[in-house]
Amino acid sequence: MVKIAPSILSADFCNLNSEIRRVSGADWLHVDVMDGAFVPNLTVGVPVVASIRRHTDMFLDVHLMIDKPARYIDAFCKAGADLLSVHLEADHPARIADALHAMEANGVKKAVALRPITSAKAVLPYIEQLDMVLVMTVEPGFGGQAFMEQQLSTIREVRSLIDRYHPGCELEVDGGIAPGTAGKAIEAGATVLVAGSAVYGAENPANAIELLRTGR
Ligand code: DX5
Ligand code: ZN
Repeated sequence: MVKIAPSILSADFCNLNSEIRRVSGADWLHVDVMDGAFVPNLTVGVPVVASIRRHTDMFLDVHLMIDKPARYIDAFCKAGADLLSVHLEADHPARIADALHAMEANGVKKAVALRPITSAKAVLPYIEQLDMVLVMTVEPGFGGQAFMEQQLSTIREVRSLIDRYHPGCELEVDGGIAPGTAGKAIEAGATVLVAGSAVYGAENPANAIELLRTGR
């Protein structure tokens, strides 16, 4: 069964504790960290992840949309992240490898993320050591954007690389997941779906989560 990871980017940050409780039926909690440089938006950082950790046992899936992420891996691990995703476009390959190594040393799950422009093959140098690959289906930076249908081919390509080189690796799809696109992402090979506006914009987030799980 596919996992659902609601993104708190679409939550009310003044009521984060109750907003997290509203999605407690989900599998993971997705936290979008943005630095205003790698993406044209600013969100939350290490202290907010640490606060969230004190208030929930949910699996914290932390998506780092920041330049040179290796600088902050230890801090996010100590703050209580369960999994960290670093973007392949955010630094040189040797520094991405350093970031993954730091996650390993902290016992935190390791993922790389791909902007829409990045080809599936870019995961090849890392795939055997990864717990997850994150494929973006919008340009990272903002919630509420439309799903990029052309990314279905990237999801399929990553799916076939995972099947070939590391079948246990999760494949997360992030951006524009809603009834209507969830099924397409699952069919293309996703095992984890991030959803911000489709969950927090729904009258009943618990129902929205269950619907997405069925691929609707
Ligand atoms: C965008 C973020 C996403 C965002 C998804 O840069 O990485 O996680 O919250 O929001 P929706 O589901 O509204 O597209
Ligand atoms: Zn995200």
